[in-house]
Amino acid sequence: MTDEHSTDQAADPFKPYKGRFQSYPGLPKQGRDHQEILRELSVISEEENARWKTGRVSGTFYHAGDAHRAFLNDIFSLFSHVNVIQADLCPSMSKFESEIVAMTASILNGDAVKAVNPEEEVCGTVTSGGTESILMAMKVYRDRAFYEKNITQPEIIKPKTAHPAFLKAGQYFGIKVVEIPTGQPDFLVDPAAVEAHINDNTIAIVGSAGNYPYGLVDPFDRLSDLALKYDVGLHADGCLGGFILPWIEKLGYPVPVFDFRLPGLTSMSADTHKYGFGLKGTSVILYRNKELRRYQYFDVPDFPGGIYASPSASGSRSGGLTASTWASMVSLGEAGYMDAAKSMMAVADAIRAGIEAIPELILIGDSTFIISFRSDEIDVFHVNDFMKTKGWRFNVLQLPPALHFCVTMPQVQVPDIAGHLIEDVKAGVAYAKSKAGTVAETTALYGMAGSAETNQMMSELLSAYLDHFYTV
Ligand SMILES: Cc1ncc(COP(=O)(O)O)c(C=O)c1O
Repeated sequence: MTDEHSTDQAADPFKPYKGRFQSYPGLPKQGRDHQEILRELSVISEEENARWKTGRVSGTFYHAGDAHRAFLNDIFSLFSHVNVIQADLCPSMSKFESEIVAMTASILNGDAVKAVNPEEEVCGTVTSGGTESILMAMKVYRDRAFYEKNITQPEIIKPKTAHPAFLKAGQYFGIKVVEIPTGQPDFLVDPAAVEAHINDNTIAIVGSAGNYPYGLVDPFDRLSDLALKYDVGLHADGCLGGFILPWIEKLGYPVPVFDFRLPGLTSMSADTHKYGFGLKGTSVILYRNKELRRYQYFDVPDFPGGIYASPSASGSRSGGLTASTWASMVSLGEAGYMDAAKSMMAVADAIRAGIEAIPELILIGDSTFIISFRSDEIDVFHVNDFMKTKGWRFNVLQLPPALHFCVTMPQVQVPDIAGHLIEDVKAGVAYAKSKAGTVAETTALYGMAGSAETNQMMSELLSAYLDHFYTV
């Protein structure tokens, strides 16, 4: 079916379906046939799946295979129409969500909290994703600081490498975000630098387990000491690592302690929709005690529409996501997650060893499931240009320029993916040498950020991109 509204068939990478399928600038007068819609969307879905099924896409698609996804979709369909916050009508949601939270707490050593203080018990809520979990934790610290310490100009301290969601929280909730630069030699946050920025307005400090750019775990033992010394919150962002680092640690890899075993740790985010292998749209936010969680809740007892309460930023949420997340966890169990982690780490180890053996490349930090590298000799953005021609999608890092590959289950499903990756990276390095002195295509996008002026320019480009996203 062609697009009657589109005459411009020029290739726009963000609008590949223009001209191929009907566009809808308005609601169609008559509804379309189910089978026809299903056929059309199956074509789109299969084409998009083909890309990551090559195993050449870093991160993004985490799940444990087609059978697992089909199972989750079956579960989703049983509860897709259910609203999680209508607990009176669907008490199953209370079962699923409380158990998702409890299981996540058990993975992240929630039991250790009671040993320090028998009055405390790790608790939490399910949210729509990592960003919402982080937003909620920052709101909790802001409100706690206001009500308990009368802090009206709240500040948090984060490593530069911690996720932009903390900056979003700052913008949404009026919290000043103090960023601590990270860099050589270990690319981790320096606790002494964090301490130097703690003041009377500090409500929380933040670290990542592991961080998005490099997969590294910040030195939480020392951050925990600081949190206790200055009586501020400590949030561990385990959105990415929360459902894989515990298994990696059990497999015997050296993973710094980052969870509730630390007495100063007060909250933690962990994404069920990443390495929890759930469908997209859920995450867990955990707190050290129920008093903290109370600051997350929202209620309006005198709403004319009836008494209103919701635990998080979202209002209605699909019970399908909750049920399928629960099903993902109980169907895999510890053994399933361990097996997955073991097979992903076999790939990650092979990639790491291969990169380490390429003299022009320098590994960034002591990471596990993400392999990041930079170079002092060649422009790694040229390497990225080359890798793109071979169908690879690395994540492009900046400040400093670097690339990372985040290993997920699709890599496990393609034989010798690490061998192919290393072979192509080697060829990419040779290509980069041949292009020395020229500007890489990747640089056009990533070489700009840094100064206030170029950041402003990038900001405008990004807004234009988002406008374009919502253009039919
Ligand atoms: C370390 C880390 N924190 C937070 C987030 C935000 O998660 P989400 O995209 O689910 O909102 C991500 C996403 O990649 C992440 O890697």
